[in-house]
Amino acid sequence: MDQQRLDQVMDALRTVEDPELHKDLVTLNMARDIEIDGGNVSLTVVLTTPACPLRDEIDRRVRVGLQQLDWVESVHINMTAEVRQGPMMGEAAPIPGIKNAVAVASGKGGVGKTTTTVNLGVALARQGASVGILDADVYGPNIPIMLGADGAPMTMAGKIAPIEAHGIKLMSLGFMLEEGAPVIWRGPMIGGAIGQLLNDVDWGELDYLLIDMPPGTGDASLSLAQLVPVAGTLIVSTPQAVALQDVLRSISMWEKLGVPVLGLVENMSYFVNPADGSRLEIFGHGGAREAAEKVGIEFLGEISLDQAIRIGGDSGTPVATDESNPQAAAYAEIAGRMAAAISIKNEERAEPLPML
Ligand SMILES: Nc1ncnc2c1ncn2[C@@H]1O[C@H](COP(=O)(O)OP(=O)(O)O)[C@@H](O)[C@H]1O
Ligand SMILES: [Mg+2]
Repeated sequence: MDQQRLDQVMDALRTVEDPELHKDLVTLNMARDIEIDGGNVSLTVVLTTPACPLRDEIDRRVRVGLQQLDWVESVHINMTAEVRQGPMMGEAAPIPGIKNAVAVASGKGGVGKTTTTVNLGVALARQGASVGILDADVYGPNIPIMLGADGAPMTMAGKIAPIEAHGIKLMSLGFMLEEGAPVIWRGPMIGGAIGQLLNDVDWGELDYLLIDMPPGTGDASLSLAQLVPVAGTLIVSTPQAVALQDVLRSISMWEKLGVPVLGLVENMSYFVNPADGSRLEIFGHGGAREAAEKVGIEFLGEISLDQAIRIGGDSGTPVATDESNPQAAAYAEIAGRMAAAISIKNEERAEPLPML
């Protein structure tokens, strides 16, 4: 290959910045397998997440960058993704094989935390990420119902095999309980159960493990928050003031534990009346965005109150599995922003290259 042209291509790619990570593609090691054949340049761009919301923009920037070279006639870009291993924050030891664990939390119950977790999980998996969900909500382990997963996980060679549903690997505290039996979880019991779910389960390699946390900042939440090794937390809220007050408490709990809040999602944001298309703001609207701005965390998006979402949850087929439903796109967008927030955090924390 023509070394001079290769050098020119590398120099051109050093002028192309990732729109979110704000570093150039060479520094980020995102431009690989460069081949030059006369005036034809082909390369692989390795994104930091398959759920990258700005892949078209990156594609455009690479073309603009390379077309600055007068000898370039055509550019062929192969886009792939490789989720990078994030350092785990907080006090717990990381789980081998899991690149990024995210706690999904809420200030109170019933705001749609579990619904959001399963739909974001499905959205990430549909875009090609390997995804697991750990149901750690001691008060309401509902993930198996919402993913339509029944049956008990099997143990093989001392490891528990997670159940698979809609392309997601799943483990739940609910699998360890008798159906309908009341349970009172106390600190040590939570510690034992969660330790088993994290360490005795054969998760394999996962890009993202979403952890459905108990709501609020009570004893169980706090014990769990100290036990799960996570890259960050995502907080779900409805728009009204009372819910947001609890959100602020939740944010401060995570911050005290040294876990960054990746962003806030507003659920049940508004309702579109199917009869006439009019919009009703049943719980108010926009409160979560305002709260996010006030405390300086990212607002990741809003999900409306929609019967299809409720039906998807009750039937075990999350709405995000149905590409024709507009809610699938809404969840995909939030999943993309969350994945981008993780990539950004990982890049911020990455060790600088040693100076030669
Ligand atoms: N955006 C939404 N539109 C319609 N129903 C929803 C929505 N989000 C959640 N629900 C429904 O509200 C109920 C509570 O949601 P859930 O996810 O179980 O909340 P949490 O996990 O916070 O307790 C469920 O029946 C769920 O199907
Ligand atoms: Mg729940």
